[in-house]
Amino acid sequence: MAFTTVIALLLATSSIVVSQNSSSPSSTSVANASQTSSAPASFVTNLELSVEDLWDLYVGPVSTFSINTTVQPTPIPSSSLIPPPSLYYPSFPTGQQVPLQSKNESWRFPKTFWYGVAGASYQIEGAVKAEGRGPSIWDVLSHRVPGYVITNETGDNADNNYYMYKEDIARIAALGIKTYSFSLSWSRILPFGSGPVNEQALLHYDDLIDTCISYGVTPMVTLYHWDLPLFLQNSYGGWLSEKIVPDFTEYARIAFTRWSSKVHYWFTVNEPIVFCGFYPLPENFFKKTDIPKKQQPYFCGHNVLLSHSAAYRLGKSINSSLSISFKTNGGYKIPRTDSAADAQAVQRAWDFQEGWFANPTFLNGDYPPNLKSHVETFLTPFTDAQKEQINGTCDIFAHDAYTSDFIEAPESGIEACIANSSHTLFPSCYNTTKLYANNYWAIGPASDPGSPWLYKATDWVPAFLHYMQDTWKPRDGVAITEFGISEPYEELRTNLASIVIDPLRSAYYRDYLSAILIAISEGVNVVGTLAWSIYDNMEWSQGYSVKFGIQYVNLTTQERYFKASAFEYVNMFNVYQEK
Ligand code: NOJ
Repeated sequence: MAFTTVIALLLATSSIVVSQNSSSPSSTSVANASQTSSAPASFVTNLELSVEDLWDLYVGPVSTFSINTTVQPTPIPSSSLIPPPSLYYPSFPTGQQVPLQSKNESWRFPKTFWYGVAGASYQIEGAVKAEGRGPSIWDVLSHRVPGYVITNETGDNADNNYYMYKEDIARIAALGIKTYSFSLSWSRILPFGSGPVNEQALLHYDDLIDTCISYGVTPMVTLYHWDLPLFLQNSYGGWLSEKIVPDFTEYARIAFTRWSSKVHYWFTVNEPIVFCGFYPLPENFFKKTDIPKKQQPYFCGHNVLLSHSAAYRLGKSINSSLSISFKTNGGYKIPRTDSAADAQAVQRAWDFQEGWFANPTFLNGDYPPNLKSHVETFLTPFTDAQKEQINGTCDIFAHDAYTSDFIEAPESGIEACIANSSHTLFPSCYNTTKLYANNYWAIGPASDPGSPWLYKATDWVPAFLHYMQDTWKPRDGVAITEFGISEPYEELRTNLASIVIDPLRSAYYRDYLSAILIAISEGVNVVGTLAWSIYDNMEWSQGYSVKFGIQYVNLTTQERYFKASAFEYVNMFNVYQEK
């Protein structure tokens, strides 16, 4: 691979340390050999590294899968498209009358409502070193940081989607799913995050998008789903630095320019609360930073808002008809008691979760009050020009709305928490629980223990949808851009027949979609849904142990199988969508 770059500062990794005192100076080119300094931190070096060097030095060997060229799709056997037997309550198999279960004639999904499935590059693609891809921070986190992925697994092969995307698209099309949301791997397109562009990656995504279109599946593209090019992290701290703004915007420019005539729906970043919460990254694997640990997520958030809004405005200037938004996440927040303190805690929770990104973009270009009074102690406030740039830069409220939580004030009280930066709940100063105030019943059935944040709480969805519409008033409506549940202990099931019947996930989709139908009938403009996920995949620090797929993937053979939930999901649209 011909790409090389200059790395400005070398870091200690778990296996190598390169210092200015290296006994083999030929390996570095020191900018100014006669420079003297008494501050070791000021010693920096320029070192030319190829993509291959980045892999070797920072990640080490990666594994590859036996299928390593693009697979042509095989016809989807009609036997695999027969709906499953009824669950503990009847569903609506196409063409079948179900006793005791009638269609609710006052519910309907409008004709324009889109429904699909979602995945993300690092979680599904595999082929991490193929065709010029540069490493991302997740290659380091999964390969080098002991225990960061609890199962010690990596995304090296994942679902081998990089080679099997045609089959994957054919399968969802055969189910009747009309939308596929995926993310681009930034470090495939720009192996160093900025600089030289990798044409092979562009050709790959050309074909992925064209394949969707040829199957009548609408492609939706997310630019950034957590796999930050490693080089940007090590050059300037990634999202911690404002230097990311031009780099992200340039990356967005490449994508918009290439695909804006084929892709209408774009998401700039996925769940910034979560990826900004990755900071501080584990020590000694990435470039060091002086920013205090608890402040790092907010520096990240600041630069996300600047990057997103710059990309939004650029995208609109390239093609004003595009729909561009970011995907946020959070959950419905229910006061645990009717005390004034819990009401205040609920507002803090909205402000520190959804509001962190939604208020600036949907309301006024700035942070919500509870968050603002915290971040203004260390962040340079947005200028008026920046506020203007940020305000209005989401076309839809694209929310990954999996669940709900009870919220309560900290035991010590909110004020005491705000005044004490070492309080465990500082700076947000609210508590979250899944238990009703009787401390006995949970809000609903629990998902897999590997996703303790997620319970089935679909009864709260109509209230949540109303809240989103009423609070942030999105121009083009609300979309649920991820929802789904990890079936408890699914990984322990060893035989196919038991794996593919997933009753909790099936009930979740059916009840969630019923809740959306209720909200629509009450006037909420819900415009689309994306089920997470197209199939089981690399669930980040949980590895492959936690399953969210509506398809099972045998990771040894890479064969895919539909689960019952896939049929439940599609069936709700077969029954309720206007033809
Ligand atoms: C949201 C994230 O976007 C996705 O990457 C993750 O796998 C799911 N939640 C499930 O945790």
